[in-house]
Amino acid sequence: MGIKSNNIFCYDSIIKREHRERILNQKGKLIWITGFSGAGKSTMASALEVELYNMGKLTYILDGDNMRNGLNSDLGFSEEDRSENIRRVAEVSKLFVDAGIIIIAAFISPFRKDRNKIRNLIGKDYVEVFANCPIEICEQRDPKGLYSKIRNGQIKNFTGIDAVYEEPENPDITINTYEHNVEECVQSIISYIRDDI
Ligand code: ADX
Repeated sequence: MGIKSNNIFCYDSIIKREHRERILNQKGKLIWITGFSGAGKSTMASALEVELYNMGKLTYILDGDNMRNGLNSDLGFSEEDRSENIRRVAEVSKLFVDAGIIIIAAFISPFRKDRNKIRNLIGKDYVEVFANCPIEICEQRDPKGLYSKIRNGQIKNFTGIDAVYEEPENPDITINTYEHNVEECVQSIISYIRDDI
């Protein structure tokens, strides 16, 4: 890594977030979905995006698998790499929220300290959604075939199996994805954010 420069000067734009939000007729927000692989994060994110689109809202999905193909392609699944993954996504989200866009982020984000940092960075526009689903059900669903690879010893350090997941203590919304269909999950998020988007 290079030496950090001290000669950095942040500029202040004339056109502010409130101007952009006025053009878009909406408020920027970060809807952060955390939970196990296979808990339904991406499915919910995608259905939520469609619902918000139908309400005339500009959204963008940031998803673990996609980000790890691009900006975060240098990162693996050690604790440090997962924290760095989340740090970068949080910073990207901050820019999007400042642009007035509603971000839907779907990341395992297993560590409480990392999620708390996002809340501190974004402030009141951070909405934490816990996609709650027992690991046994995620394993039965196995949408990407990863859990069977773990059992064959092909993957190590997998969240919920041999890597830790710290459940949110005070999420804004908890959704038991094993008890509700996708439409019900989306509606519980919509009813939470409806008056502030
Ligand atoms: S996080 O822990 O850093 O937040 P992230 O959400 O970006 O994870 O990526 C998780 C996705 O990577 C999973 O849905 C799965 O498809 C894939 N993956 C590959 N290896 C692992 C692993 N060891 N643990 C968890 N997910 C993994």
